[in-house]
Amino acid sequence: MKNIAVLEGDGISDEVLSSAIKVLDSVSKTYNLDFKYNYYPIGGRAYELSGVPLPDNTVQGALESDAVLLGAVGDWKYDSLEPHLRPEKALLGIRKKLNLFANLRPVKIFDELLFSSPLKEEIAKNTDIMIVRELTGDVYFGEPRGITTEVIEGKKVRVGFNNMIYNELEIERIAHVAFKSALKRRKKVCLVDKANVLDVSRLFREVTLEVSKQYKDVELSFMYVDNCAMQLVSNPRQFDVILTGNIFGDILSDEASTICGSLGMLPSASLSDSKTPFMYEPIHGSAPDIAGKNIVNPIAAILSGAMMLEYSFNQTKASQSIYNAVKEVLKEGYRTKDIYQQNDKLVSTTQITDLIVNRIKVE
Ligand code: IPM
Ligand code: MG
Repeated sequence: MKNIAVLEGDGISDEVLSSAIKVLDSVSKTYNLDFKYNYYPIGGRAYELSGVPLPDNTVQGALESDAVLLGAVGDWKYDSLEPHLRPEKALLGIRKKLNLFANLRPVKIFDELLFSSPLKEEIAKNTDIMIVRELTGDVYFGEPRGITTEVIEGKKVRVGFNNMIYNELEIERIAHVAFKSALKRRKKVCLVDKANVLDVSRLFREVTLEVSKQYKDVELSFMYVDNCAMQLVSNPRQFDVILTGNIFGDILSDEASTICGSLGMLPSASLSDSKTPFMYEPIHGSAPDIAGKNIVNPIAAILSGAMMLEYSFNQTKASQSIYNAVKEVLKEGYRTKDIYQQNDKLVSTTQITDLIVNRIKVE
């Protein structure tokens, strides 16, 4: 039996998690797997319950599990809380506690959704990128940080600062993840940075180049992040694996997701050095404005479950059965609101989930 810690957060979190779990249950029946779900609060929900966004019990439960499934955290109603109490802090906290330094964000367009992409069909077609985003460093965690006051031109003014910082060990381990991932794909890694301006990027290049010597079969290239933002929407097919730091990866993965038709389509896996469990989450946020209406797209969460089967449990076939079931449902024309185009069959969150559940089969 495998223990899965389910971290219940805010907004649409419950809806997408229950979809993902319904699909995982169907897969476990079909493939004879045994999952036990243990639920823990995180984010705004945890703050309401216990006064902190990341309770010790949640961290403990996650650490003791075989894999962690997370919905989403955040709500505008918590915007005025002090930084350490905000829901987002819990997400960063759990990533750090579980040492989840490698975030894999696959950007793969389903042919069936080419018309939902804002890009022209001939540009979006066959996009298949793996964004390898470093997840526990960079300006997200760098010290010193804060807001202070300084006297400038004789006036007391507020100054905000964060520190973009990476040491070579952090760069080495994420580079290895990117090269290993490329070996299973088209054998290309593009390091995206801002080495024309930032010292930390120069070190990132140096160390990645050194690591690349151990992967002779993989071609390494470099691109500045501003150029990459442009290339992603003009020629996304050129990319295989994109290796990048935390903040650039955050921004580029939202941009890349839209190629696939919607932010609601993209799953992610966050990996550690294997001493702690991996975590899976859709890349979208908590979308409180559309929560509770049964209209959200649960596919990103469902595909996160598929990534869990692959990366934590080595169940490649079971994982593939989820991708195939999703593809089948899309081929039949069923769409949630975010990917709906004229003539499609508009369905709710629970309807599309049941359609996917019913199409899980032995591969
Ligand atoms: C993401 C999110 C988070 C991040 C936020 C909610 C803290 O945008 O997972 O991409 O910036 O990492
Ligand atoms: Mg983001």
